[in-house]
Amino acid sequence: MAKQILVTGGCGFIGSNFIHYLLSGHDCNVTNLDKLTYAGNLDNLRDVEGNPRYTFVKGDIADRADVEAAFAAKIDGVVNFAAETHVDRSILDPDAFVATNITGTYRLLEAARKAGVDKFVQISTDEVYGSLGASGKFSEETPLSPNSPYSASKASADMLALSYFRTFGMPVVVTRCSNNYGPYQFPEKLIPLLVTNALEEKQLPVYGDGLNVRDWIHVIDHCRAVHMVLEGGTPGAVYNIGADNERANIEIVKGILAALGKPESLITYVKDRPGHDRRYAIDATKIRRELGFEVSIPFGRGIEETVRWYVENRGWWERIKSGEYAAYYEVMYKGR
Ligand code: NAD
Ligand code: DAU
Repeated sequence: MAKQILVTGGCGFIGSNFIHYLLSGHDCNVTNLDKLTYAGNLDNLRDVEGNPRYTFVKGDIADRADVEAAFAAKIDGVVNFAAETHVDRSILDPDAFVATNITGTYRLLEAARKAGVDKFVQISTDEVYGSLGASGKFSEETPLSPNSPYSASKASADMLALSYFRTFGMPVVVTRCSNNYGPYQFPEKLIPLLVTNALEEKQLPVYGDGLNVRDWIHVIDHCRAVHMVLEGGTPGAVYNIGADNERANIEIVKGILAALGKPESLITYVKDRPGHDRRYAIDATKIRRELGFEVSIPFGRGIEETVRWYVENRGWWERIKSGEYAAYYEVMYKGR
């Protein structure tokens, strides 16, 4: 019988890409539990709404009754993407980060334990490791040293999740991926913010000196890796996911301007993010060796296709940018 997978946060960027990935060619049914926060967008999954293998449940992972409703049907596996995810918002107000990322993960773990699931994949982030200097990479053994309320809440969730393996023998696996890019990313994050601002001939805000480094992976490669972990990850293990693709922010900014034929005069250096991590780099040897994961989308092709997606799906991001997000943008960037 086809497995029933509970995906949380499926209306967000990575969750919606993951649901598209699961429903195209993998033998499973999907329940999507999503609160529809500012980042959750039903438009991301409009094309699968009528699919008999897909069920949407609107609810909060931090609400016991909502979580129980999602577990009303038999659930075989859980992939927990639901989270508050934007570092800058966690600096403005950490409240929702603690509620969703910590309490929410706890509620899911409890429900999954009672349901006796075959696998619980906790989607974490490389940001739990903190910041690197000029050399070295994060391995799964790197001590956790989170620097923002966002990354600290994710590190807390990791510890809770792993405790459910050690204490209760629950088949929990934690993944820690580097920065994702691709279609359906909310335009508060660097790449869609740059592309959409450039298309609107608006300034491109670059924090600090623009030399902070991130390690970019296409969202579909992240989804492929998460699926491998869901199917074959060792219970109790942590897997780093990355594409060996370090770029300074300013390189990304200039590359996007060049791709769109826009002038570099749009670049504006602004006040740095407090506690801004300097560099992230992922050592993904373990997932390559144990699960055979290989990156399939080289950055050059991936970024070109991604820029084109935002050019061709202007209605998608214009609807977002004209709503609640406009008020956030004003607070975040005005006078910075
Ligand atoms: P996103 O902000 O685009 O989407 C988050 C989704 O979670 C939204 O649909 C939102 O409505 C939902 N959500 C938020 N709070 C909820 C709650 N209390 N109950 C139910 N649903 C809720 O996030 P994303 O960028 O797709 O990230 C998904 C996951 O991947 C997160 O756990 C994040 O920490 C992790 N991650 C992201 C990246 C990245 O580069 N974006 C990299 C590594 C790890
Ligand atoms: O590393 C994984 C993490 O990547 C995920 O866990 C987070 O959910 C995700 O938001 C992302 O975090 P970052 O802080 O790295 O992503 P963000 O897109 O916010 O910023 C990327 C870099 O660009 C960072 O160095 C800050 C810089 N930046 C960002 C914005 C929004 C700018 O220079 N200007 C901007 O306007």
